[in-house]
Amino acid sequence: MQFELTEEHLAVQQAARDFAQTELLPGVIERDEHQKFPAEQVKKLGELGFMGMMVDPKYGGSGMDTISYVLAMEEISKVDASCSVVMSVNNSLVCWGLETFGNEEQKQKYLVPLAKGEIIGAFLLSEPEAGSDATSQRTTAEDKGDHYLLNGTKNWITNGNSASVYLVMAQTDAAKGHKGINALIVEKNSPGVTVGKKEDKLGIRGSDTHSIMFQDVKVPKENRIGEDGFGFKFAMKTLTGGRIGIAAQALGIASGAYELSLKYSKERKAFGTEIMNHQAIAFKLADMATEIEAARLLCLKAAWLKDQHLDYGRASSMAKLFSSETAMKTAVEAVQIHGGYGYVKEYHVERLMRDAKITQIYEGTSEVQRVVISRDVLKD
Ligand code: CAA
Repeated sequence: MQFELTEEHLAVQQAARDFAQTELLPGVIERDEHQKFPAEQVKKLGELGFMGMMVDPKYGGSGMDTISYVLAMEEISKVDASCSVVMSVNNSLVCWGLETFGNEEQKQKYLVPLAKGEIIGAFLLSEPEAGSDATSQRTTAEDKGDHYLLNGTKNWITNGNSASVYLVMAQTDAAKGHKGINALIVEKNSPGVTVGKKEDKLGIRGSDTHSIMFQDVKVPKENRIGEDGFGFKFAMKTLTGGRIGIAAQALGIASGAYELSLKYSKERKAFGTEIMNHQAIAFKLADMATEIEAARLLCLKAAWLKDQHLDYGRASSMAKLFSSETAMKTAVEAVQIHGGYGYVKEYHVERLMRDAKITQIYEGTSEVQRVVISRDVLKD
């Protein structure tokens, strides 16, 4: 067993840390307040090779492993989780899905610019009545011979307006249930695509989340990913990897909140001494550090399994479940340690607390992760 990171891993971690401090930290409060999409910052992430981190260089990616991706996601998320969700969706849902299941033409046309960060992608599974219950897709993709006719509405779509390419799950043959669902590549500027209003969110306010409506959108057959009826499996397999990205995002939010709390505890004085000298604070820091370390190990283990091409379904859900619960708990404690300062924007921890909440909801709620884990452990 090897717990040390390689030189390459350390270099990626340092690059992400530097980027977060120099490019993301200035302006993060304003972007959150005004719900401003970090367009410039995402462009620079693309130039650094962070928008297609795990994609083969022959398709414009950086050819890194999943461990590097986890390290980068943690560092970016410590400072700006709105930016890291854009990165995560593009890397692990859109790029990974296309590279693993797309054909050569689809990769050349869509994956290359996505992996280079020249364009952004989005993943459209959730619907007004199909969140956790993802098999109940109401969006339809009627087979019209050489094309599909797409109709319906998708909800809570990360990168909804900033993306130019959508991966859309839609029902072609309702009689076949989830086996009648297809995954289609849809260009945002296709006639019949409408971007709905931007959601006014509690957290990750810099990212753009929208409903997307499709009315008689013609999608060429060559834009279907995989065989007819592969769409639901495509979504599940892609989300299994995506959950490692969101787990790492949650880990970053937790470690960001912890680092700010540690620093504050060493500076802030109360009752004649720095507050770190009070056991009430020191024990909170001990719990935070322990839980964050456990979350980090779960994230890295899931990433390692994926890199070794071993089964990582249970591990990715465990990482997502534990890291997101840790993010929420740690961020709440960080606000408590900061007292009144924690409740105002300039100390950052209130934003981290708001951002933490979504990690327990998207890419499968904590309850969905428990479904996945319990089904798997019951096979033991
Ligand atoms: N890999 C491969 N196949 C899988 C799979 C996986 N991880 N999970 C399920 N499947 C397959 C099953 O084997 C089954 O296929 P067969 O019928 O051939 O055996 C089929 O899919 C249906 O599976 P289930 O019967 O298990 O389906 P279910 O209705 O019981 O639901 C669920 C399972 C785990 C709850 C699933 O619906 C789920 O994951 N829901 C959450 C959806 C989600 O994560 N949405 C996130 C939206 S994207 C997002 O959030 C991005 C963002 O903005 C950041």
